[in-house]
Order: sequence, then C-alpha cells, then structure tokens
Amino acid sequence: RKPVPRAKGIDNSLSLIKEGFTFLPNQRKKLGSDIFETRLLGKKAICMAGEEASELFYDTEKFKREDAMPKPLKMSLFGDGSLHGMDGEAHRNRKRTFLSMFTPDRVEDLKRLALEHLDARVSQWEKEDTVYLFDEMQEILARAGCEWAGVPLEDGEVKQRTGEMIDMIDSFGGSLSRFKDGKKARDSHEEWLQKIIKGVRKGKMSPPPNSAAYIMAHHRETDGKRFDKGTAAVELSNSFRPLLATAYFLTFGVLAMHEHPESVEKLKHQPKYSHLFAQETRRYYPFVPAMAAKVKKNFTFKGYKFKKDTLVVLDIFGTNRHPDSWESPDSFIPERFEGWKGSPFSFIPQGGGDHHTGHRCAGEWLTVIVMSAFFEFFAKNLTYDLPEQDLSFSMERMPTFPNSRLIIQHVKKTADYD
Ligand code: HEM
Repeated sequence: RKPVPRAKGIDNSLSLIKEGFTFLPNQRKKLGSDIFETRLLGKKAICMAGEEASELFYDTEKFKREDAMPKPLKMSLFGDGSLHGMDGEAHRNRKRTFLSMFTPDRVEDLKRLALEHLDARVSQWEKEDTVYLFDEMQEILARAGCEWAGVPLEDGEVKQRTGEMIDMIDSFGGSLSRFKDGKKARDSHEEWLQKIIKGVRKGKMSPPPNSAAYIMAHHRETDGKRFDKGTAAVELSNSFRPLLATAYFLTFGVLAMHEHPESVEKLKHQPKYSHLFAQETRRYYPFVPAMAAKVKKNFTFKGYKFKKDTLVVLDIFGTNRHPDSWESPDSFIPERFEGWKGSPFSFIPQGGGDHHTGHRCAGEWLTVIVMSAFFEFFAKNLTYDLPEQDLSFSMERMPTFPNSRLIIQHVKKTADYD
C-alpha cells in the first residue's frame, strides 16, 4: 500500500470556494496525481478524477451517500430528506418513482411545452430593445416546468417563483450571502409546494395522474406510508426545479453558437447535429464542480487504502475534461460525439453510473432533449445580433455564466417551428 499524495494546507475549504472550478484540477496538476488527500470542512477528504475514479465512485457496494452531502447544500439546494442523500432499497424505491415521470412520452410533453413557451416569449423579444437571454431562459423553463409538473403558476407570480428557484440553484458555490438567499428562497418555495401537496391530497386540485404533483402527493415509501408533507414538497421540487439549471447550459450553448459560427450552419442543415452540440455544451462548460460520497467499507484501489466513512470527492468538471478520455479536452468540438462509443463514467456532467440503481441524474434525458430542441430553434427559427458585451465568465464562481448574462438584440422570428 502507498500513501495518497497530500495537498498543501491544513484545510482547503476556503481555497476550493475561492478557486472554484480550477481548484481540484490545479491540485492534481501540482501533485502529478489523479488522486490526492486534503481536508475539507474540517474532515479528511480524498479527491479524485478520471474515468476509473468515477467508476469506483459510482460503485454502490463501495460508497454511500448518507451524511456525505455538506449541510448547506441540503438546506438550500436539494432540501431535507431528498433522495440525493439516500442509499440501498429505500433510494431505489424512490428513484423508481422519479424515473416513472421521465418516460419518453412525458419527456416529449415537456419539450413541447418548453418550445411553446419559448415561441411565445420570442414574440415579446421582437418588440424589445435588449434581451437578457440567461434571465429569459430561466422564466421560460419555470413556466414549462410548472405546467408539466401540474403546479399552477399565475402570470403575476412567475418572477417571484423563478427567482426563488434560481436563488436555490445559484447558492451552491460557497458564498455566504448566496447561501442565505438560497435558504430563504427554499423556505418560501417549500411553503408554496406544501400547499399544493395538501390541495392534491384533499382533492381540491386535480393534476393529471402522470404529473409530478399527483405522483409526489401519493407516492409511498418502502414502509407503505405516504411522504410527510415536507418531504413531499421537497421531492415535488426535485421533480421540476432542476430544469432551471438547464438555463446555464442553454446560455452557454448560445454563446458557443456565436463563437463557432460554422456550428450554426450545421445546426440548420444536419438533423443530428443538435444532439452532438448539446452533448459538447454539457461536457465543455462548467456547471457541477464535484460530488461527495462516503466509503461504505474498507477497500484498496490502485494500492491506496480507502477507510470506512472517509469523505471522497469526485471532480466532475475535471473528469469531463480529462486528457485520458478526451482528445483536446479544452476545445469545443461537438463532432467528437459523432460515433462516440459512450461510457457511463468519462462524461458525467449530470453524474455517472446507472440512472436506475445509482444517483445519476433523473432528468438527464430531459435536459439533453430540451437543449437540442432549443439550439435548433435558435439556429433555424430566429435571427438576432449580439452587441458588444462582456461574454467572458468566471472559473472561480460556482455556478458560473457569461458576465453580460448574454444580451441579444434585433430578434426576428424567421420560421415557425415544427
Ligand atoms: C441528480 C446534475 C437537470 C433531477 C443530479 C446529480 C447531478 C445532476 C450532478 C447528482 C449525481 C450524483 O449524485 O452522483 C444536473 C444538471 C442538470 C440537471 C447539470 C441540468 C443542467 C435535472 C432535471 C431534473 C433533475 C431537468 C428533473 C426535472 C435530478 C434528480 C436527481 C438528480 C431527481 C437525484 C438522483 C438520485 O439521487 O438518485 N443531477 N441535473 N436534474 N437530478 Fe439532475
């Protein structure tokens, strides 16, 4: 056995918060190792990256999620008692319920709704001087997500509810003020969804039986009991709120179209290109930095000892750009996904492994399909200009987006979508 290389510094939590997406890759480079040890939030943590590390991390015999997630994430982003922190049969039972909502026809329903809401906003953009695309995407996805989930959303509350969901998503990067905003937003968001769960249970509201509002109101746990209303609200939120995270990728994708004009022609004329383009957008642009789990029982990997209950952090962004898996990892090349053999462990923007038995994102197919449809829409159905603006984005802020929030002008719809 050999010792795991150790990063300098007593506790690196602050460096991680300060250096953002660059922290883990830079440490690995400094130490010349895909695996290293440090302390995070006062605890020993093994950090690792790459396809093999990811395969290890998603082995549910070796890792568990109980108590692995930093508390602030639970309090603002995911909610107390959510499936993210569960293990074993209890997790699989709940995951089945989630996945039952993302069947191909329900994914298609959401894509349709998202396109309809996008199309409706375009009529408004045509009249406006300046359109902030990042903000527009959030609102469109909030409207579509709520409608799909059977959650009523009045025109007058769209801004408030969208803002709350984005504050929750935007809270994960370690900034204290953003965490506070996220926590406050979650309190109001959960109160709203608890009322809806109550309304559905009492028969005062009748969302369709295949909608998230109905399913989460009536789901039963392995002990045969329904959720308490707090957990029902948390999981109803987890059924559609993460859709708003797609606003970050959509904004980056439109930026990529601007920076790679040849891709716009391909999006217009090559039917399958939008899928390659969406995949590369998810690989190349930073969103999720890392995931955490705890060692379930002692084992040895590549001569390194992993002791029960040790915190292990998988570098998600670094794995998506790992040179052992990707040629020219730091270049944006959608064509790399043409004929890509696929691996559940080297391309993990929404987690790795298996969707059904592990923690891989329940909304992954949905995300890719909505992204492809929107990129095609932007290429085929619209013309617009990008005025002078600051298109750069921070690699230290987590999550990150273009500094200008991506401004477009002179929007014209040139064709109806089909
Ligand atoms: C889990 C990312 C969109 C629902 C996850 C995980 C990541 C992730 C990294 C955790 C993987 C792990 O624990 O190892 C993303 C990103 C998205 C996105 C980057 C889009 C930009 C969505 C959407 C939905 C969704 C649209 C549903 C509408 C979930 C759920 C889980 C999850 C329910 C928990 C799965 C589990 O613990 O078993 N997502 N997600 N996500 N995501 Fe997403």
